[in-house]
Parts: sequence; C-alpha cells; structure tokens
Amino acid sequence: MEGHRRVVCGATQVIGLLAFIFLFYTQSFSFDPINFLLRKQNSLKRNETMEEVGVFEENLLSSFKSLLSDDDLPTLDTTSLACNSATGPSLCVTTNPVKIDTVTMEIYLPTRPDPPNPNRNFSVNEDGQIIQLIRPYAWGQLDLLKTITPVKFLREPPQQTPARRCDFHHKVPALVFSSGGFAGNLFHEFNEIIIPLYLTSRVFRSRIQFILVDFNPIFVNKFNRILSSLSDFEVLNPNSNTNFTNSNKIVRCFHGSVVGLKFHSFLSINSSEVPKGNSMIEFRKFLGKTYDLKSENASISVSKPPILVLISRRKTRRFLNEDEMVEMMEELGFEVVVVKSSKTMSDLDRFSKLVRTCSVLVGAHGAGLTNQVFLAEEAVVVQVVPLGLEWPSAVYFGEPAVRMGLRYLEYRIGTDESSLVDSFARANPVISDPGSVFAKGYFLGKEMYLDKQNIRVDIGRFKSTMGEALRLIGRTTPLSTR
Ligand SMILES: *[C@@H]1O[C@H](CO)[C@@H](O)[C@H](O)[C@H]1NC(C)=O
Ligand SMILES: *[C@@H]1O[C@H](CO)[C@@H](O)[C@H](O)[C@H]1NC(C)=O
Ligand SMILES: *[C@@H]1O[C@H](CO)[C@@H](O)[C@H](O)[C@H]1NC(C)=O
Ligand SMILES: *[C@@H]1O[C@H](CO)[C@@H](O)[C@H](O)[C@H]1NC(C)=O
Ligand SMILES: *[C@@H]1O[C@H](CO)[C@@H](O)[C@H](O)[C@H]1NC(C)=O
Repeated sequence: MEGHRRVVCGATQVIGLLAFIFLFYTQSFSFDPINFLLRKQNSLKRNETMEEVGVFEENLLSSFKSLLSDDDLPTLDTTSLACNSATGPSLCVTTNPVKIDTVTMEIYLPTRPDPPNPNRNFSVNEDGQIIQLIRPYAWGQLDLLKTITPVKFLREPPQQTPARRCDFHHKVPALVFSSGGFAGNLFHEFNEIIIPLYLTSRVFRSRIQFILVDFNPIFVNKFNRILSSLSDFEVLNPNSNTNFTNSNKIVRCFHGSVVGLKFHSFLSINSSEVPKGNSMIEFRKFLGKTYDLKSENASISVSKPPILVLISRRKTRRFLNEDEMVEMMEELGFEVVVVKSSKTMSDLDRFSKLVRTCSVLVGAHGAGLTNQVFLAEEAVVVQVVPLGLEWPSAVYFGEPAVRMGLRYLEYRIGTDESSLVDSFARANPVISDPGSVFAKGYFLGKEMYLDKQNIRVDIGRFKSTMGEALRLIGRTTPLSTR
C-alpha cells in the first residue's frame, strides 16, 4: 500500500436523535429449554415420522412462550393472545392461527374455520373489536412511536357476517416489525431493529415470515444478508399488497404471529432476560458467519502494523485537527484508515470486512461507533467523548463494547478541546455545567452538544490513550512501520 494512509471517500455519517430515554424490560422467565429438549427427544424416540408435525407444533408453542415472561403466560394459555406487560405492550404473541389483513394491518384471531366458498365478500373494517393495538418499534419514545404503523388485533365478528377467507396460507408464523423510526442511522438500525430482530426471531430457526411495516427498501437492501439469514422467506412488504396484481393476496393466514421486537438494552443482549440464553457473543458470531468474516484475533498479526480505523465525522463532532491525530497514530505504528463516508459504512458487506481486520476503532461519540459489532475479539474501541455527552457515550457505546467482549477506552475531552469554548466563556453553564443545559430541555442540550460541537484533540494527552490501546493489543513498543 502506498502512502501512510488510505482515505475512504467523503460525505458524512449522520447521527439521529439520541434521545435520552431508557427502556428497561425487567422480566422473568418460565420456559425451560432443557426440559423442552428432553421432551422433544422423547417424542422423537416414540415415532419419528408420525410425531413430526406434533413436534413442530410443540416446538412452535415453546418458541412463542420463550418470548414472554412468566406473568404473561397464563393470559396466553387462556386467550391465545398475550403481550409483554412490563412497560406497556411492545411485543404481542398469538399462538393460534391468525388471519392478517395486510392492507389495514389488522390481525384477526379467527372464531371460525376458513370458509370453503372462495367468494370473498367483506369490508375490511366491519365489526370485530380491537382488543390490542401495538406499534412494532423498539424505542419507546411516544412522539416517535406515533409515526409507526399500528398493528391491531381483533376477534373475528360473530356468525352473521361471512368469515374472512385466507387468500394465502403460510405454513409458518408471522413476525411483524417496522423499519420506520430512526432507520437510516446505523446505531438505531442495530439497536432497535437488527439486534432485537435477532433476539426475537432466532428461536424460530428461519421458519418465520417477516412482515415489514413502514417498509423501507434501503433498509431491506442494506441488511439483506441478515434478514435472509434469519428467515427462509423474502420479507413481505404489506404495502405492495395494495397493488393490483397482488390484490387477491390481501388476507394472509399464519400459524400464529409475533408483533414487535424484544429489546434488552442498548446494543446489548442480556442472557438472563427473555428470550433467555442469548448473548452478544452469539450475535457477533452470527454476524461473522452472515458476513463471511474471518475470526481474526486483533492481538495476533505480529508481522504487520496493526490497522486502526478512524471514523471521521463530517458535519458534527468533527475532529478539527484530524491530520495531527493521524500523524501521531502513525508514529505509534498504526496503519491508519480514515473513513469519511456514511456511504462507505453502509456497504456492510465490504465495510464489515475492513472493521474485522482492524485492531483499533477510533471515533467521536456517534453512530459510526456502532461498527464495533463487527470488530474481532480482543480489538479495542476508543471513544472520544465530547463535552456534555458522558452519559450517552457510556450507555450507548462504552458499556455495550465491554459487554460484547471488546476492550474499551474512553478519551474525555477537556473544556479546551471543545469548540464550544470559542463561543462561550468558561464560566458559562454551557461549558461549566452541561447537565444544567440538558435539564432545561433535551433538544436544547442535543443542539448544543451533539450538533454544534467540534473537537480539537490535545495530541499529547490523546497519545497516551493511543499508547494504551497499543498495549492492549499486545504491542509494547511503538513499531517503525516501514
Ligand atoms: C440482566 O438482566 C437481569 C434480570 O433482569 C438483571 O438483574 C441484570 O442486572 C441485567 N444485566 C445487565 C448487565 O443489565
Ligand atoms: C410410526 O408411524 C408410522 C405412520 O403412522 C407407522 O407406519 C409406523 O409403524 C410407526 N412406527 C412406530 C415405531 O410406532
Ligand atoms: C356482498 O355484500 C353486499 C352487502 O352485504 C351485498 O349487497 C352483495 O350482494 C354481496 N356480494 C356478493 C358477491 O355476495
Ligand atoms: C405489483 O406487484 C407485482 C408483484 O409483486 C410487482 O411485480 C409490480 O412491480 C407491482 N406494481 C407496482 C405498481 O408496485
Ligand atoms: C488472541 O491472541 C492473544 C495473544 O496471543 C491470546 O491471549 C488470546 O487468547 C487470543 N484470543 C482468541 C479469541 O483467540
């Protein structure tokens, strides 16, 4: 490679609203996977061919149950519909067959079998009562949720009207979720959709039909590999069903449904929360397999200079002396790859491979750091924390990095390193007490610290952080690169 540095494109990584809102589902758990496996094996011994269907159904019921906490299971048993109740419904499960009107996103719990007469004649909104409404996006901020397509559960109206006829029978359950919300921002895409989707769908072992409301083709294209690893079927866009050629496939029938996605914590999976037994270690293995990433060990490639990926934000939270930073990093022996483009980063196929080969990922607080999910084990994340952003830096990226088994270093800038000192006196609360600015209103704080702040890194002080990173990947002394 010629030159000391490769510069990958230009443009920017836009960070969405990092609203300071916690979602914590504290739920207990009742499904016992070991017991279930034993039961399954016994039934297989009894009669393998005959039991196949039975096993599938039992398996399916257990899968549904694994998504709910103890408290919600009695409701599921009595009504075949249950939602997680902990923080207002964010996920609902139906275990019996359902009919989904993909135009209105009404889910009917049938009271009668599918009528034999193919002459469909009902208006989609006729009687029936909404018994549950849910907006299937895993970020519980109310004004955001308002933008998410609601999904409604209803019981089929009684005898006098004809029952809905299934226009299409699926042999698997449906999983309904949204690609609205903050999709477009890598952090939010992984945090609210991809990790929760993994968590929610994995137990079905790809035998599940995804229905994506607020269908975003860019999202589907970007995460195509992940979506097709998690489901054997092409993602269904309910809106495309309103189109004439498809208009006879409006009502689709499924072996039960899940609406909404399970969320544990920011970029994290907690193995003791339902669905129990998952972890970020497993998720990262899944990513490695899905993107065909080599299981590199960041500490090992002794022969070559370690690769450092520097995420160079272009609009907000920019490094004002990036060249000096790169120079210092190269002096320490890193091969520095500066990534300036969100376009580069959104080509996950290629970018994940670059991240997997690097030993150290460096960036200011922002969505680009989400790429830590692709890092090799033993790799180091260095987050540069701007003024006033200690909390989101720790909660969105720092703690998750540690929990997924990476090494994490934080470089908190001093007031002199923030561009805000150019506009505000040191005694001004903007500089001396960022908490008080956020206390006046989240959007005020967001504008000041997330949108209006750039960073002039103190090279001398930052050098010791980078030296620590070098030590963590097993390089004790600076190398001469060439
Ligand atoms: C994981 O979940 C359990 C049970 O809800 C909780 O006690 C524990 O604190 C959680 N761990 C983390 C790291 O959040
Ligand atoms: C299993 O079921 C099949 C199909 O009903 C039957 O022919 C076979 O005899 C059964 N085998 C055993 C071991 O019960
Ligand atoms: C459909 O229902 C409407 C209103 O009940 C009725 O007037 C119409 O004849 C029905 N059409 C068919 C094809 O059954
Ligand atoms: C309607 O659906 C068909 C089949 O899915 C598709 O090929 C066609 O492009 C769609 N037409 C429009 C106008 O969306
Ligand atoms: C990576 O390499 C280091 C240093 O040789 C070693 O201590 C560590 O166990 C390795 N990790 C993995 C996951 O192989």
